[in-house]
Amino acid sequence: MNATRGRLAPTSGQLALAARLAQGGSRAADAITHVNADAYTSPGRHAAEQAQIFACTPLVIAPSALLPERNMSVPHDGFGKPLLIARDKDGEAHVLLNVCRHRGTRLVEGTERICAPRLTCPYHAWTYSLDGALTGLPRPDSFPGLDKRDFALKHLPTREAGGLIWFAFNDDADFAEADELGQDFDAFGLAGQYLFRRRTHDVAANWKLIMDAFLESYHVQRLHAATIGKFFRDGVATGDMIGPHQRSAVGRDVSAEAVAAEDWPTLRSAITYTYQMFPGTILIVSPDYVNLMTLMPQAHDRVLVEDFMLIPEALATEKALDHWERSWNLLDGGVFASEDFRAAALGQQGLQSGAIDRITLGTLEAGIRTFHDQVEARL
Ligand code: FES
Ligand SMILES: [Fe+2]
Repeated sequence: MNATRGRLAPTSGQLALAARLAQGGSRAADAITHVNADAYTSPGRHAAEQAQIFACTPLVIAPSALLPERNMSVPHDGFGKPLLIARDKDGEAHVLLNVCRHRGTRLVEGTERICAPRLTCPYHAWTYSLDGALTGLPRPDSFPGLDKRDFALKHLPTREAGGLIWFAFNDDADFAEADELGQDFDAFGLAGQYLFRRRTHDVAANWKLIMDAFLESYHVQRLHAATIGKFFRDGVATGDMIGPHQRSAVGRDVSAEAVAAEDWPTLRSAITYTYQMFPGTILIVSPDYVNLMTLMPQAHDRVLVEDFMLIPEALATEKALDHWERSWNLLDGGVFASEDFRAAALGQQGLQSGAIDRITLGTLEAGIRTFHDQVEARL
């Protein structure tokens, strides 16, 4: 739901990172560290991560902008169960199991957004509203004693905060960190953004290799030399943590005046903020648009990455379409698919060969070590 936008001001945490960048960034580690190669290549490790992390940790499933209006829903299959993301008639977001309560048929087919206040099962036409309630069934006389209230779609714990929709597979999920991160996202108006495009990439790499690529700025001048490398200063970066989640800032051209302005257009043109949310969500705040990536591990060597591009205005003109289209092609097709995801797939090929039994991280790559510490602490 698009919130009305007042004056948006950075949080104290965002400003603190900006101030550190203005002083040349910060060094998060003094020594080399390592991660064992089998963290990326072991099917057993994949199974353990699924059971002990993805099955019991709040996960971002989509930006709020995927469902901008009431009575919208989208099937979602990337997390191993057929899910339905829905916004009900009152505007509340729900993550539901996309499974009819009559005989277990998948309720909604496909992957596209549906705008309708009722969803009807293709088999016997049981009908549900978008809060999951069973609203009707044909020939109700043939189900004597059936109480419709006992046949709502299964509901997973859901929280919408700061322009993101989170859910969890465990009933006792705690969304406190989603709320805390939401304050940072509200600070730049994420909930008021519009979805421009989304695309799911199928990458032949362990999911952590994708996270790793967004946890260090060491590669930016090299891997991205032909695309965005020129926009950043080499190794001028800093970061901190919100719970297990990392918040990073990479410098373009950061002056003390830019920081003192406490003004988003100035800050965003000088700094790229990135949020690496545990376990597998990345949010990148470019000067005039935002990319959200959700990682959905499929196997030890395969991950689906859904990339959403969010823009600050509803599309009104051909000129605007052309402008955002170029940004989409640069980031989604160029920087992500052809560079970051390609590097992740090359990493998988190399590690799977057994040629090295551990990777080596320099001081500019300390965010990767921090991330793997968070993963390993849960296994
Ligand atoms: S299985 Fe859905 S209505 Fe029968
Ligand atoms: Fe990158």
